[in-house]
Amino acid sequence: MKQSERANFASKLGIILATAGSAVGLGNVWRFPYMAGENGGAVFIIFYFFCVLVLGIPCMISEFIIGRHAQSNTARAYRKISRGTAWTIIGYMGVLTGFLITGYYAVVSGWCLHYIWSAAVGHLKGDPAYFQQFFTDFSSHPGKPIFWLIVIMLMTYLIVEHGVQKGIERASKILMPTLFILLLIIVVASCMLPGAGKGIEFLFKPDWSAINGNVFLSALGQAFYSLSIAMGCICTYASYFSKQTNLANSAIQIGVIDSIVAILAGLMIFPAAFSVGVSPDSGPSLIFITLPNVFQQAFHNMPFVGYIISLMFYALLSLAALTSLMSLVEVSTAFCQEEMHISRKTATLMVVVAASIIGVFCSLSLGAYDGLQWLGMSLFDIFDFVTGQIFLPLVGFFTCIFLGWFVPHKIVHDEFTNWGTLRGRFFHLYLFLIKYVCPLCILFIFLHQLGWI
Ligand code: PHE
Repeated sequence: MKQSERANFASKLGIILATAGSAVGLGNVWRFPYMAGENGGAVFIIFYFFCVLVLGIPCMISEFIIGRHAQSNTARAYRKISRGTAWTIIGYMGVLTGFLITGYYAVVSGWCLHYIWSAAVGHLKGDPAYFQQFFTDFSSHPGKPIFWLIVIMLMTYLIVEHGVQKGIERASKILMPTLFILLLIIVVASCMLPGAGKGIEFLFKPDWSAINGNVFLSALGQAFYSLSIAMGCICTYASYFSKQTNLANSAIQIGVIDSIVAILAGLMIFPAAFSVGVSPDSGPSLIFITLPNVFQQAFHNMPFVGYIISLMFYALLSLAALTSLMSLVEVSTAFCQEEMHISRKTATLMVVVAASIIGVFCSLSLGAYDGLQWLGMSLFDIFDFVTGQIFLPLVGFFTCIFLGWFVPHKIVHDEFTNWGTLRGRFFHLYLFLIKYVCPLCILFIFLHQLGWI
């Protein structure tokens, strides 16, 4: 495809909202608040900001540079810039990581849709044991999760096949502000509950004694995942940026939006949980088992408000998941479209069908079909482990080394300063971080996740 024919985001706002849409996802809601609460509250949050600033934003700028410079899908971008040398493999790994994550991320996104439906028809009522059973019955059911998986994939398909401007950008401009409004409404409702102060304290009270190496590495890992780094998403979206986009500023804005959403998610969850004396946990059990119960109890004397809040909460989760899913599907769509020379419609359809098949197997591995377990892990957990703990750090690490040590500095400088039209005051700092600090930190997370340090 000739460069002039290539799609572009139409506006600066579109760029920020679409990329922030990729970053803001389930990770912000189900992992960040819990990690902050467990790991020293305000201290963790300061750590986290530090990691976003020092590790996350430079890595994001690096992916921006690769994507915008090459104006092509992630695999081709690494190939073009490295002139076909072995670095190309990293690009392919990025695409593969994005693709593999799509399937299982879609499973959980489908669960969110099912919970909207369940909230709407009044099924989310009962005692804690009921919610536990409700979730287990649903997630291990052979048909229901697959139905919702297909629904969310169909929604993603309908957006992505419309292209970058008319699909992704337009949808992000509607979905992201809606998400933000829903979030603010729930935060206000949650913080107004009696006893909410204890939850706010849990989140923000600095507990210096909680600090150790693990906390630091967890903050690093979370920053990385939360910003959608090393999965091809950022690089693919950057290939649609215009030549005027200030890459460093955009990365900072996206980092700030993502962090604000994470903190607001904490202010939505903890005050409500503490006001009813439930201690929150993380992951699927937090959002699908603990929280429905928390909302029900917290608003028991205003059942209608409780009903609306649950509904809004699952709508918010689904929106966060959908915008992330769009970016994941776009990685492989751009790849198929450009490498196989097929239309966007066909490419999107292929990706959505293939990812849905992976999703179906992941979903079945959670109870409906035991044969999909290996070494005591379900297929779902295996995908999570391989992509999140192995591919993601590898792609991140080699991207830093590639850009810091092998790509001619002129290319990096030109992209960073928009061909000298921006001052690029932080260029040397950026280069230092990407050459030394980021690769070392990523290496540490990698070894830590594998339990080697
Ligand atoms: N950043 C997303 C989150 O916080 C997860 C994600 C990673 C989405 C990579 C897309 C790509 O949940």
